[in-house]
Amino acid sequence: MIDVVLGLQWGDEGKGKIVDVLTPKYDVVARFQGGPNAGHSLEFNGQKHVLNTIPSGIFHQHTINIIGNGVVIDPVTLKKEIEKVMASGVDPRKNLYISQKAHLILPTHRLVDAASEAHKGEHKIGSTLRGISPTYQDKIGRSGLRVGDIITPNFTQKYEQAVANHKQLLDRFNFTYNLAEHEPAFFEAVEFLKQFQIISSEYFLNELLQQGKKVLAEGAQGTLLDIDFGTYPFVTSSNTITGGVCSGLGVAPQKINKVYGIFKAYCTRVGSGPFPTELHNEVGEQLRKQGFEFGATTGRPRRTGWLDLPTLKYSVMLNGVTDLICTKSDVLSGFETVPVCDAYDIEGERISDIPFNFNDAPIKPLFKTFKGWHEDLTQIKTYQQLPESFKAYMTYIEEQVGLPLSVISVGPDREQTIIK
Ligand code: GDP
Ligand code: IMO
Ligand code: MG
Repeated sequence: MIDVVLGLQWGDEGKGKIVDVLTPKYDVVARFQGGPNAGHSLEFNGQKHVLNTIPSGIFHQHTINIIGNGVVIDPVTLKKEIEKVMASGVDPRKNLYISQKAHLILPTHRLVDAASEAHKGEHKIGSTLRGISPTYQDKIGRSGLRVGDIITPNFTQKYEQAVANHKQLLDRFNFTYNLAEHEPAFFEAVEFLKQFQIISSEYFLNELLQQGKKVLAEGAQGTLLDIDFGTYPFVTSSNTITGGVCSGLGVAPQKINKVYGIFKAYCTRVGSGPFPTELHNEVGEQLRKQGFEFGATTGRPRRTGWLDLPTLKYSVMLNGVTDLICTKSDVLSGFETVPVCDAYDIEGERISDIPFNFNDAPIKPLFKTFKGWHEDLTQIKTYQQLPESFKAYMTYIEEQVGLPLSVISVGPDREQTIIK
């Protein structure tokens, strides 16, 4: 059976930490979409690690980690990541497997990403500039390069063909660039990757499932950044929802068992796009400071706001969430009140579904306000010990969403996790 961990908001919900906590129960951890736009942080023994492409089970030597076909890989970033993991004493040559069918991010994909964002000006998506959208465009346009291509004799020829197309695009954007600056590192990284286990991951994974092994699929980004159901066009270019697991790993839907849906006790977003509960005041600043809300990949300050139940319920519905996990609960200590948005007012009408014109509608969030709490939650080990006001807030979320909470995270470390 395969269980899934994914984000229910706009990313950065703490997926890396939760995957690391859950990994001892699994034989395999597999990423199914996204690429180095992701930044998944985990912390143990007083050390913080950030992973972009490598699954968050990598620090458990006996766990098999798979980068699935649905992922897009930048060899340069992956090489750097692998070297960092190696420096901490883990050898990914033993427990990392890469799908032959995963698409490659070329240096020109990153340039096209930058050119396209610059061209959009104030309408930019706020992309991480990691080349994600151009790479998925080539995949869908059937002109992409895949990891398996690197060991074929005509790889350079295929590369040159792709680059020729990208150069035309860059010229159309009138973008100045120096490709020669980027190519040596790319080809060096491609050579480096050849020492890793590059496999038909769909066969490998299905055989493991056949043997009764337990697999955890790790999502990147979040449901509200999904290409189909997110706040389009302010989204990423892959299916971040449970449906993405089937196409991103090559597993059948009936193999999927639990779906762990992760949400922060409040909301954040990096990049452009709608955010109804966003706070543009000192309370938002306090959330950013207490939650240390700066991007793990780009270092950009994250936008902050209160929890939004209409989008949370939408995400739970789309993913078939079975287990709810709340992270960053500790960050809400010290606020006089904790509001939660339970519906929107759109031109005088109370709306609880996500409207098609979510980006442009004059949305006013309608809040229910809870009394705040001041206790430090970071050392609490059981649900019973949590402050009553915090529990009232959590109970309301459970009632509204219609699911019980199974895990509450009260700090970035593995140990700061309460199983309810
Ligand atoms: P991901 O992309 O979903 O894996 O999340 P990120 O790693 O980008 O962002 C989550 C940030 O919050 C990281 O810096 C984590 O170390 C941190 N974090 C995770 N869970 C908690 C928690 O419960 N409390 C606090 N204070 N920090 C947390
Ligand atoms: P993790 O896995 C938060 C956002 C970008 C931008 C939009 C499109 O760490 O949760 P892209 O580079 O994909 O073309 O950017 O999506 N974005 C993320 N925001 N967490 C992420 O990943 C993100 N990956 C992309 O900020 O708004
Ligand atoms: Mg992140």
